Amino acid sequence: MSPIPLNDLKRHNAPLATALKQASERVIDSGWYILGGEVTAFERDFAAYCGTASCIGVGNGTDALELALRALGIGPGDRVATVANAGMYASSAICAVGARPVFVDIDPLRLTIDPASLAAKITGRVKAVIVTHLYGRLADLAGVRAVCGDLPIIEDCAQAHGAERDGVRAGAFGALGCFSFFPTKNLGALGDGGAVVTSDPALAEALVSLRQYGWATKYQASRPGGRNSRLDEMQAAILRVKLPLLDGWNARRRAICARYRDALPDGAMPETGMDDVAHLAVARMKDRDAVQARLAGAGIQTAIHYPIADYDQPALRHLGLLQSLPETARALAEIVTLPCFPELTDAEVERVVEALA
Ligand SMILES: Cc1ncc(COP(=O)(O)O)c(C=O)c1O
Repeated sequence: MSPIPLNDLKRHNAPLATALKQASERVIDSGWYILGGEVTAFERDFAAYCGTASCIGVGNGTDALELALRALGIGPGDRVATVANAGMYASSAICAVGARPVFVDIDPLRLTIDPASLAAKITGRVKAVIVTHLYGRLADLAGVRAVCGDLPIIEDCAQAHGAERDGVRAGAFGALGCFSFFPTKNLGALGDGGAVVTSDPALAEALVSLRQYGWATKYQASRPGGRNSRLDEMQAAILRVKLPLLDGWNARRRAICARYRDALPDGAMPETGMDDVAHLAVARMKDRDAVQARLAGAGIQTAIHYPIADYDQPALRHLGLLQSLPETARALAEIVTLPCFPELTDAEVERVVEALA
């Protein structure tokens, strides 16, 4: 029986080959490769899609987080609250600006930030909260807002393009929303890419400057902390082909997750409503290792997102952040990621369900 992969980008992109080649040719023929018409058009369309006033294309999702922190003026001596189960991306960005992460525990069902734990961690030194919509599931933003008052919220939407609640899409809840267009993402480029969305004109202006050496105008660097981090014309052109297809892909991902959820015991996965774009089909299982072995035996690929809590990462040990977050630790031992991508067939989904039974 043929193997079932976790994801298959060849199957994802093959039906778009003609349109993608035309878009690439358009860029090649234009003679303009950095910050041109393709990026401007994509920024306009993606801001409209997210429901924000602005979108600023940047080099990747980690840069998006770092530049968002810089735009808020966060730096050495500051603390930023975030979760420890989201793959180190937010923590890397926090450390890159010279601040320190303060880790917050998670909700045991959705595996996103727990507002009650956040309330216990906020001190005067905490200057922002990064809320990761992990696996495509919108976090409890109302709960976070209620406990953090005026503290700015940065949404990490790298896994949540298009997730929406009460008519508001991921990225439009907080001061800033950060996206990755890494090829496996729900909206993925054919290389690295990222964006920050915001409806705050001052933050938008800061980001436009920070992504390009801190320039106010060409060669005049007036803003400290500038970087070179730009979405390029080629990736923007690719993303323009794909954006109109995103909602359809998200719907298919949701249907796959809903089928897994039906087949699993209660509490293994949350419901997949519109506030979940099912980037990763992550379930909790007490016998996780045995399930992974059984699925591997049936030719079904699984993974763990993510196997190491940020506070336990060797790169952060020197900061002495090791701590007890009971729900985070419990989830780490139980999570398993099942195959989920829009082109997965019904027959393949049923094979996964059978192997899970
Ligand atoms: C939740 C989350 N945040 C941030 C990132 C960073 O994005 P990038 O790989 O584009 O830097 C990723 C993806 O890799 C991610 O999954």
